[in-house]
Amino acid sequence: MKTTFRVFFITLLVLVTNITQAQKGLIADKAMVVSAREEASKIGVAIMKKGGNAFDAMVATELALAVAYPYAGNIGGGGFMVYRKANGETGTLDYREKAPLSATKNMFLDKAGNILPDKSTDSPLAIGVPGTIAGVFAVHKKLGSLPMSEIMKPVIELAEKGVIVTKKQEKSLNNYREAIIKANGNTTKFATIFKENDTIKYPALAETLKRIAKNGKDEFYKGETSQQLVRYFEKIGAIITQEDLAHYQAKWRNSLEFNYKELKIISMAPPSSGGICLSQIMKMIAPFDIKRMGQNSAEAIQVMVEAERRAYADRSAFLGDPDFVKIPLKELMDSEYLKTRMATFNSDKATLSSDIKEGKVNYNESTETTHYSIVDSFGNAVAATTTINDGFGSKYYCDELGFFLNNEMDDFSAKPGEPNMFGLIGNEANSIAPQKRMLSSMTPTIVEKNGKLFMVVGSPGGSTIITSVLQTILNVYEYNLSMQEAVNAPRFHHQWLPDIITFEPNAFNAKTLGTLKTKSYLINEKTTPVIGKVDAILVLSNGKLEGGADFRGDDKAVGF
Ligand code: GLY
Repeated sequence: MKTTFRVFFITLLVLVTNITQAQKGLIADKAMVVSAREEASKIGVAIMKKGGNAFDAMVATELALAVAYPYAGNIGGGGFMVYRKANGETGTLDYREKAPLSATKNMFLDKAGNILPDKSTDSPLAIGVPGTIAGVFAVHKKLGSLPMSEIMKPVIELAEKGVIVTKKQEKSLNNYREAIIKANGNTTKFATIFKENDTIKYPALAETLKRIAKNGKDEFYKGETSQQLVRYFEKIGAIITQEDLAHYQAKWRNSLEFNYKELKIISMAPPSSGGICLSQIMKMIAPFDIKRMGQNSAEAIQVMVEAERRAYADRSAFLGDPDFVKIPLKELMDSEYLKTRMATFNSDKATLSSDIKEGKVNYNESTETTHYSIVDSFGNAVAATTTINDGFGSKYYCDELGFFLNNEMDDFSAKPGEPNMFGLIGNEANSIAPQKRMLSSMTPTIVEKNGKLFMVVGSPGGSTIITSVLQTILNVYEYNLSMQEAVNAPRFHHQWLPDIITFEPNAFNAKTLGTLKTKSYLINEKTTPVIGKVDAILVLSNGKLEGGADFRGDDKAVGF
């Protein structure tokens, strides 16, 4: 009997241990990349195994995603990188797209001042001046250690060898095929029906990358590639000129930093709204005991939603490109100000946004853009989020050069008070002007705990990026989840307007949703299948790294 009990107990222990292990992400001793595709994570890691640092790996991963993940990875778009060096030094790079020189404030309005449907999303005018190549060269020049040719070699090989289509990719290519054909005609590369396990080769992109590897950044902005690109722009009716490309510069900016309890959060400053919104939300919820309330409890959701509502309302009014508008950053992050903002919070009843302003539009696609997190064996960390905005951007694909062009112009506020494709309302601060950068929600973020590197995190998802990053940090810090569990956990989102809480469908307790409904919250489980797609790395107490790769996509952690 005793033996039987012991066998039973040991079996149970093994089972429990296995379950616990299964809930952890990949554990690595020294270095890791987590990205949207295994091929990109592997190339980033291979560069670090060769002795490269996290910045070399950033260049390799960013460009490998342009090959392996054309849905959002890109050289026809832009992004933001936040870094923390092993010595604690922090900074950010802004390689966000810019409005062309001939862009005008009312370019997406008709004569009567009404929004021209789809012009800012599906037309050649939607394309902003791409920043990605300037971005990777800026990172390499300032922080890289291996030669660019060595970093780009495996990326070019991947483009030549090809990438295997996953089940999820087959689905997304199917969903967008018609729109891609509408933009490019039926002889374009992605008019072909690609099935799971097919291999897609990218010879045109390989040639473009080879020229860039040989001639540097100027190849894309001033050289043969830029000339081909401008000819393509002229053919489709885009307004980006040679002068626009030659003018483009990536910009080093100070990181936006704030404290949440014993954490220091290092995130992206404007022209992304990510860092500032995250800081407002976290500071507004800090006085509440959300740990006691419980993860995804009605009580905790309510506090977070009310903070989100207020932060997104401020986003709409105040945020834009800091090179063009004065942003009251200090005032918006001031603890007293944020306390006053939450003074109207009533735990019995929702503060309805419609009391302030009406919102109408739903957003239904939330996995465009892509984020990757990197830690190297020297202790450097990189969080980078890159985008062509919508899935496959504007859908305009330059077959000669082998890449999609963004539709980032939709991130501007085409008309004050009118929502963009994410339902986000903008204002004068984010109006269109030549050379201006459109406001973003991208939130590449690094977290320190007690002065040491703790987490690298970020997500795609348009307006839901900020709330996805928020919940992931809180899931680890407040609710003691592992990195993978924190990424897996169901998410919700509120953005002031439209005045609804969007929940991942069938993932939340019916009683919780019922409680929120009784308090006048409007619940939406329909318009978006997933919220965010987080890729993150946690530094464990023993110094090892745990990856959190989002199961909502084909995301993968690779490390050593
Ligand atoms: N294009 C999505 C963003 O930058 O927020």
